[in-house]
Amino acid sequence: MFKTIEWTNDGVRMIDQTKLPSEEIYRTYTDYREVAEAIRSLVIRGAPAIGVAAAMGVALGIKHSAARDEAELRADFEKIADTLARTRPTAVNLFWAIKRMRDTFERALSSCQHEPSGFGKVRAALEKEAQRILAEDIAINEAMGRHGADLMPDAGIVLTHCNAGALATAGYGTALGVIRAAVACGKKLQVFADETRPFLQGARLTAWELAKDQIPVTVITDNMAGHFMHQGGIGAVIVGADRIAANGDTANKIGTYSVAVLAKENGIPFYVAAPLSTIDLSLASGEQIPIEERSSAEVTQLAGVSLAPAGVPARHPAFDVTPQRYISAIITEKGVARAPFSDSLRALFAG
Ligand code: MRU
Repeated sequence: MFKTIEWTNDGVRMIDQTKLPSEEIYRTYTDYREVAEAIRSLVIRGAPAIGVAAAMGVALGIKHSAARDEAELRADFEKIADTLARTRPTAVNLFWAIKRMRDTFERALSSCQHEPSGFGKVRAALEKEAQRILAEDIAINEAMGRHGADLMPDAGIVLTHCNAGALATAGYGTALGVIRAAVACGKKLQVFADETRPFLQGARLTAWELAKDQIPVTVITDNMAGHFMHQGGIGAVIVGADRIAANGDTANKIGTYSVAVLAKENGIPFYVAAPLSTIDLSLASGEQIPIEERSSAEVTQLAGVSLAPAGVPARHPAFDVTPQRYISAIITEKGVARAPFSDSLRALFAG
């Protein structure tokens, strides 16, 4: 089984998701700026995986810091955290993970009485915390799978958009984790993977990891989803999330909103699977979620080939927001939330 990301003695190692499925290449980064660039350029992507990468980036940066006193170490921490935080704005897991690393940094600094002789302990604490975030993420995804498996049909087709699988997390996946758990329970599921223009996470990544697990998967282009839903046979839609507002509005890969509207029109349940670290209770609704706008070249070109006439502008919002009224349930590691989400999501945090 592949590892999406891991901490090694040589540096942070990750599978290069820009090369899949044609090449299975692993990159090892020894500088936090390389980790930031890997996040920005989608070598690693998917909200929980971005969080793990950011945590490891912080640990890596402080590992190589030459700070001689606390002021210098703090300045290094801020520079590293800021560089990583500026990579991608939508997935809240990035900021959640940096905050966990900051809390760990403060705790470790005070436990070594802010003395440079104790900086080794600060470095060790950060490495341990980054690895803990990774291990917890896998356990969280497995818990999500247990909670969500019952919601999947006993047999038939489940449609997903983008990649919310092992590649988008530390392992197992959120939406694909629920599908994996349902299949492990004996449900006879097939997956329809929207290809997910423009980066093709569905065609390249979801299809790759499901095929490896021998879960039947069929790739469709994004504009075929409505056709297949209308024909019948699609029993459920399940997707991941990059940020969920307090009222349940959910930002996920561009195109998710259209799929959710189509699902409602066709009477098909639409599920979101995401860890609590993806829920941002500080935002009242999805209107406040920052949407990343990526380069238009990612829309007008595919593998270096132009798909549109030179000079014609293109837009590239990388995410959209699905209003909560289209969402049948949000599956988390603490259980399943249903409307009204403003109450049910808060209750999960309290429980
Ligand atoms: O641009 P990406 O590939 O990082 O977008 C990923 C998604 O939209 C996923 O669906 C989301 O992060 C959930 S991953 C478990």
